[in-house]
Amino acid sequence: MKLFEPIRIGAIEVQNRLVMAPMTTHFGAEGYVSDQMIRFYERRARGGVGLISVEDGIVDCPIGNNTDHPLAIDSDRYLPGLAKLAAGIRNQGAASIMQISHAGRRAGQIASDNGCLKRTGGRLPVAPSALAHPSPGHVVPKPLAADEIQNIITRFEQSAERAVRAGFDMIGLHCAHMYLCGQFLSPWSNKRTDEYGGSLENRMRFVLEIVKRIRTTVGANVPIVCRMNGKEPEGGNTPEELAAIAVALEHAGADALHISVGFASVLWDKDFIPAEATIGMPEGCIVDLAAAIKRAVSIPVIAVNKIRHVQFAEQVLQENKADMIALGRPLLADPDWPLKARQNRAEDIRPCISCCQGCVGNIEKGRPITCMSNPQLGRENELPMSQAQAARKKKVLIVGAGPAGLEAALGAATRGHNVTIWERNQAVGGKLQLAAAPPGKEEFTELLDYLDRAARKQGVKIALGKKADSAAIKRFGPDVVVLATGSRPVLPAQLKFCQGASFIPATEVIGGYKPIGPTVAIIGGGMVGLETAKMLSSQGHAITVFEMLDDIGTDMPAIIRIPLLLELREKGVKLLPRTPVRELSAEGISWENERTRGVLKVDTIILATGEKPDDGLQRELEGVVERVYLVGDCKRPGNMPAAIADAYSVGLEI
Ligand SMILES: Cc1cc2nc3c(=O)[nH]c(=O)nc-3n(C[C@H](O)[C@H](O)[C@H](O)COP(=O)(O)O)c2cc1C
Ligand code: SF4
Repeated sequence: MKLFEPIRIGAIEVQNRLVMAPMTTHFGAEGYVSDQMIRFYERRARGGVGLISVEDGIVDCPIGNNTDHPLAIDSDRYLPGLAKLAAGIRNQGAASIMQISHAGRRAGQIASDNGCLKRTGGRLPVAPSALAHPSPGHVVPKPLAADEIQNIITRFEQSAERAVRAGFDMIGLHCAHMYLCGQFLSPWSNKRTDEYGGSLENRMRFVLEIVKRIRTTVGANVPIVCRMNGKEPEGGNTPEELAAIAVALEHAGADALHISVGFASVLWDKDFIPAEATIGMPEGCIVDLAAAIKRAVSIPVIAVNKIRHVQFAEQVLQENKADMIALGRPLLADPDWPLKARQNRAEDIRPCISCCQGCVGNIEKGRPITCMSNPQLGRENELPMSQAQAARKKKVLIVGAGPAGLEAALGAATRGHNVTIWERNQAVGGKLQLAAAPPGKEEFTELLDYLDRAARKQGVKIALGKKADSAAIKRFGPDVVVLATGSRPVLPAQLKFCQGASFIPATEVIGGYKPIGPTVAIIGGGMVGLETAKMLSSQGHAITVFEMLDDIGTDMPAIIRIPLLLELREKGVKLLPRTPVRELSAEGISWENERTRGVLKVDTIILATGEKPDDGLQRELEGVVERVYLVGDCKRPGNMPAAIADAYSVGLEI
């Protein structure tokens, strides 16, 4: 496979064509590298990826911060941690890139909780021009004076030199995603009239000076990998200008180019492709942008963004569209992606399903990353399941083959237990099947198939159409029972039901179990309600969504939420935030908001207002079985990553 051929970047030979894309983890503390961060990167290096790009180190903290918990590289006090990190990656056999960055105007986000400029420590962010970042809540930045520009160029140079002293093999200059370097490059954000703005030559000056200064300081043996956007929003650089930038970077001393897209927030534009292409978008949706740049330069070009499958990655290389493939989220979901690909075991790769819930979603909330698919992410200090063999082999019965049941079964069986699952339905999947049902969410099926396949490979016996009750369980005689029986819809306490009122839980609609009339009201505007609205509106139903909270879809990451809201609006779905429903009756839905109240008569009312645990079996099993665990929604209804993580813990504990 071409994926596993070595490749030279500048003076360094990389053992294969796979690169770990830089990803902010929020694992650091106060700018410092943490032990968890080191373990996280070491684990990915052990999985066989040839080259690892560490997340962006900020060259001027806090004014250049792009996240709530950045990694800093603007002082020697960070050097010991960075050195441990570089050594950790090298000791596991991978080469390393230290990405360096400055967020520019993107740092100027006003914190929603206290209205402060949290990321910059209260200071006005800086940028080429006095134009706020386009996503809501950003202040107008201070345009940089000429001496301040020189100061930042020096900071990039010093940070690169520090990265080399720390032991990193290569420097990654972050010119993508419209951070400060991208802001200078693009007419979209650079309106200067001095030698750093106006013509393309002037707009490139800042970045090219940085590349040349880094090259002079680090010498010829340290490759510089520049990350840049292959496409910009309207008013930004044209494809021809982007190709010219690529050529100029090569001439200035860049040894490889990494072609990305987006700008660390989401545009209210249905054609916008974010830096992290989401569920439903085609695989490799920006590979052609890399191919276009590759035609313009002679240095290696790296392609990225939703390249998930081994065959697809190989094909990109075979078709000469790129020289290397960067994997970001796929390596969060499975650090052993490269090893398994090399061993021809693609079906054993835990899939990234592009849901963005645990990774991008947590960064948005200021939390460390997690992964829907991989509960071991963030727990790299623990022994992997295969090495955490159980002291006593037990007979384990899992009730329910949803995501939590399958994950618990996989863990327990991997640790050597004798595991059986009873599933009352005729198919495995539970909530995963429901999650995969709306149009564009089919990737969820890949996670379900993986869990099903992996559990069976570990010897888990799955009995379908098998109802569990205490008598049957007693006869089966397990040592341990894990209840993964899910949840049931809950009726909101403040909602009054009058005679003649009827409703359908959203889960039954998504499952396709109930007929739906032409006009529909959905009560609950969270993810489940909105996915239901999407599915029904594409089937031609007229939908109104009632949500009591101030906003719609607040339980979703913006990267998933905004395109969904755009689509719903386009399909004519009425979205009513701050509009609680008070009563359901034969007359219809009585609702009210701050200004007015009304009654809506529809054919079908759908409830998407939450769930309560379906844990009735627990009481029945008291005294019958040595140990009963509850996992997933049947313990605490919540989101799927939490359910899978919970089940993983139980698998490790039994
Ligand atoms: C949690 C997260 C954090 C990211 N942080 C960075 C970053 O620090 N620097 C950067 O250049 N790109 C960052 N990205 C973008 C990735 O490098 C990559 O381009 C993107 O995830 C698409 O590739 P993938 O589909 O293989 O994940 C981040 C992506 C994710 C998911
Ligand atoms: S949380 Fe979702 S998108 Fe992010 S890495 Fe995991 S599976 Fe992929």
